Amino acid sequence: GAAGPVPRDLAGRHVVVSAGGTREPIDPVRFIGNRSSGRQGVALAAAAAARGAQVTLVAANLAADLTEPLAAAGAAVVAVASTAELRQAVRSAAERADVVVMAAAVADFRPAAPPTAKIKKVAGAAPAPIELVENPDVLAELAADRLRPGQVVVGFAAETGDDGASVLDHGRAKARRKGADLLAVNAVGENLGFVTDVNEVTVLDARGETVTSVAGSKREVADGLWDAVAKILPSM
Ligand code: CTP
Ligand code: CA
Repeated sequence: GAAGPVPRDLAGRHVVVSAGGTREPIDPVRFIGNRSSGRQGVALAAAAAARGAQVTLVAANLAADLTEPLAAAGAAVVAVASTAELRQAVRSAAERADVVVMAAAVADFRPAAPPTAKIKKVAGAAPAPIELVENPDVLAELAADRLRPGQVVVGFAAETGDDGASVLDHGRAKARRKGADLLAVNAVGENLGFVTDVNEVTVLDARGETVTSVAGSKREVADGLWDAVAKILPSM
């Protein structure tokens, strides 16, 4: 934030942040991916470190120039590619974590049986369809399992409004479905987020009630979310 010193309210805490986007192999050289830049997750990790936390960043296909400053600041950076790898890395780190934030864009589906050899085109023949299967919901599992007692579990959701429901309607339904303590809902496709570098998120609790709204840079949004986390962290 602009005013005052950074609180050291996460000193002695271990936080795990996943960032980036997972990639699911189609064959040895191709994948299904997404456009997540990973910048909000990296901002969350940097803000937590500045507030005194020990940080593990599970980095799904992030560019080295994004993760290097965090590693230099003492964060543990675990690079992963697929959802299966991300799930394993997050759950392993979560066993020692006070807070887990799932900021990564996780592929909802993966090819069921990627061949070990590259798929070749056959002149004149229609391409073979790629069968997809659903990935595990890492966030919902973490919320259900609570790998460490008292652990705070946080998710992110980028939503668009549509004819039937607003951004917040979708966010509230998702918050109830996931069971996370907090869900940061980001309206995509609205003027604020597009025209300027300003982000706006509404933080919901597990019942879908609004906890707080934060607008600003990705770092300011990150600090607003850590403020909300700090309020519900069990005392040490
Ligand atoms: N998430 C996850 N595992 C998945 C899918 C999503 O952990 N297989 C997490 C994301 O990291 C994020 C939150 O769940 O923190 C919301 O992701 P989102 O894609 O918005 O939710 P979905 O349940 O996949 O719903 P949708 O159909 O809208 O994609
Ligand atoms: Ca999804």
